[in-house]
Amino acid sequence: MKIKNIKVCAFDAYGTCFDVNSAAENVAPKIGENWLSFSNTWRTSQLEYTWLRSLMKKHVDFWKITEDSLDYAITTHKIDKSLRDELLNLYKTLNPYPELKECLEKLKQKNIKTCILSNGTPDLLNHLVSNANVKNLFDEILSIEQVKIYKPDPKVYEMTTKKFNCNPSEVCFMSANNWDIVGGGVFGYQCVWVNRNNRVFDELGFHPKNTIKNLTELNNLV
Ligand code: LAC
Repeated sequence: MKIKNIKVCAFDAYGTCFDVNSAAENVAPKIGENWLSFSNTWRTSQLEYTWLRSLMKKHVDFWKITEDSLDYAITTHKIDKSLRDELLNLYKTLNPYPELKECLEKLKQKNIKTCILSNGTPDLLNHLVSNANVKNLFDEILSIEQVKIYKPDPKVYEMTTKKFNCNPSEVCFMSANNWDIVGGGVFGYQCVWVNRNNRVFDELGFHPKNTIKNLTELNNLV
């Protein structure tokens, strides 16, 4: 079923547009066969640190959180510490998912506004979209650094409605992170869960009406 009355398509960045495992995958031979488990620890602790720092009201930016969570993952998995700088540099140029560019081009043909809505810093996000050659396909890059609190605080989701001067229900929000879909859905967005890995949705009081496996499928919905 088509999603109606959309003014803006807002995209989460990490895990939705960009593959967070691609940094570790690039140096997998140096990490060893457990590279994916290491990468999962890095990502999971990175997200936990965002939530915990928001609860403690001790904000640091997403780059510091990415460094801190990498240090934790390196120690946990006993990875060679000399890989630290290489992994951090790779995190600045994470691979975009292959279908991202075409998905955005199709939205632009339909005259729908597009934005990134992410925990990332403006620098990190600008670098990622430039590196992926999709910068001109986004109308706005919205970073939580404007509000200095992480997702899923409602102030984050409110950035989109304020920037585009629209109602929450006019925002179609895509995220691969199901708790992020809950945050957007509770705020009133029309949400599309990008379930790339056949996961089960969390029980947090909101379930999205639409689920897709990748961003190509979005073009059937809007
Ligand atoms: C982001 C994280 C949640 O881009 O993936 O905001």
